[in-house]
Amino acid sequence: MRLILDGKINKTYVQSLCMMFFHGEKFPENESNPNGILKLNTKDTNDGISCDCELIYNGKIAKSNTYVPFKENVTYERISKSVIGKAVYSVGKQLTGRDIEWGILTGIRPSKVAWEIYQCYGYDTALDILCNEYLLSKNKARLALDVALNENSILKKYTQNACSIYISIPFCPTRCAYCSFVSYSTKKLFDLIPEYINHLLYELEEKINVINRLDLKVVSLYIGGGTPTTLSAEQLDILLSNINNKIELWKLDEFTVECGRPDTITNDKIEVLKKYGVRRISVNPQTLNDQVLINIGRKHTTDDFLNAYDLVDKYNFEIINTDLIAGLDGDDEQSFKASIDKIIELNPENITVHSFSVKKSAQILRDDSSIYEKSGEVAKKSVEYSYDALTKNGYIPYYMYRQKNTIADLENVGYSKKDKLGIYNVLMMSDAHTVFGIGAGATTKLAKNNNGKTDILRIFSKKYPYEYLQNNKSDIGEIINFFHTEK
Ligand SMILES: C[S@@+](CC[C@H](N)C(=O)[O-])C[C@H]1O[C@@H](n2cnc3c(N)ncnc32)[C@H](O)[C@@H]1O
Ligand code: SF4
Repeated sequence: MRLILDGKINKTYVQSLCMMFFHGEKFPENESNPNGILKLNTKDTNDGISCDCELIYNGKIAKSNTYVPFKENVTYERISKSVIGKAVYSVGKQLTGRDIEWGILTGIRPSKVAWEIYQCYGYDTALDILCNEYLLSKNKARLALDVALNENSILKKYTQNACSIYISIPFCPTRCAYCSFVSYSTKKLFDLIPEYINHLLYELEEKINVINRLDLKVVSLYIGGGTPTTLSAEQLDILLSNINNKIELWKLDEFTVECGRPDTITNDKIEVLKKYGVRRISVNPQTLNDQVLINIGRKHTTDDFLNAYDLVDKYNFEIINTDLIAGLDGDDEQSFKASIDKIIELNPENITVHSFSVKKSAQILRDDSSIYEKSGEVAKKSVEYSYDALTKNGYIPYYMYRQKNTIADLENVGYSKKDKLGIYNVLMMSDAHTVFGIGAGATTKLAKNNNGKTDILRIFSKKYPYEYLQNNKSDIGEIINFFHTEK
């Protein structure tokens, strides 16, 4: 699609709006014969901004004209986004007939916007603003506000001297067809694990030193992947005993190990986790439909999941989390409902409902490029059902994010029993919390207060374990420089 923009217009925002109606759309500069043309023209008047918009797509044409007045305490940027968003939404809807439940809210964290509005106007007015100005459906507006309130019940407990640590274990027993996470899954590459653990521990030592120098306090530790329980019980013991020597694990507010794949969970590994005080773990079925598990290349069955769940349930972890995905290939409304209902029956403290996101590097897309459009309606109904069923059964939505290329533009939502909210999941998404990422593919996100506003710096580790092992460059200098006011 070619964009012809005239006025003060944020091109990236316009592209994101177009992608909500026309999935996978590209915006090449020099395409002589584009499949669509979007013309936008904005003008500032004395008291507001007006916008003329025309969309030509596959031989059809739609036009709109919108105007939004300036308002006290509302920035020019917000007015501009509103007038452009409404204009593009109108032409997109005219040509596709689609209503987008998230309206003109394109960012990855709808609850952040909801929280800002809530703080100024309170719940009811914020609900109106989200529905009428941002064009959200009432359900999504409520979800965004509820998540905002729940996540802030955690955020308010932590000050700027709190930080978290994420340790990446990018190894999995086999590769799932829908997944784009970097992860090694062959026996030959598993030979790298001992060296990888050594490298991790070295990096952890460096990071702990800098955490101490900066007088920060580690409040949560998350070991994720990949699948950390791909490691043998002995390897887990080496990793955790060394971490235990460096961090007072019993003082943490949360210590999570994302086991994930049921086919990696054994008594001896879970005993190691217990020994070192792990309090939150994940056991993920994704679906409880065996045919869907085959379609997505998951290499375990529903029974494998139920057995693994049964096994970990006996160990009395404070929190068990289970991940599900809505909109998977071959799933229908009934089978998704059956998955959610069965999971609710198991009664885990946390349930995370992801919406299927189609990643370029995932095997499933290479096998069938039509996969993206296939199950939008099923995914929508599945997500709606999850919300209804989970909230009826005492779960609250407490964190949420959206990703690109997700079926039907749906969201990922973490649900929790009251007082069992996953702290790391909330903190790592906050702009005001520092997370030290350790290992291949991990991201360090540094946050500091700068005269009332937060400065953020992200440092990315080498993506693949091979590159990570060969890299001797330390990021400690960059971290110290960022915080500058070293104590
Ligand atoms: C980093 S993965 C690791 C979890 C663990 N290895 C497992 O597979 O159980 C975390 C979660 O992301 C979700 N996920 C991964 N790929 C996805 C995709 N393409 N669309 C939606 N959710 C996805 C899955 O629910 C998965 O459990
Ligand atoms: S979904 Fe989990 S187990 Fe499957 S490849 Fe991705 S990280 Fe590994």
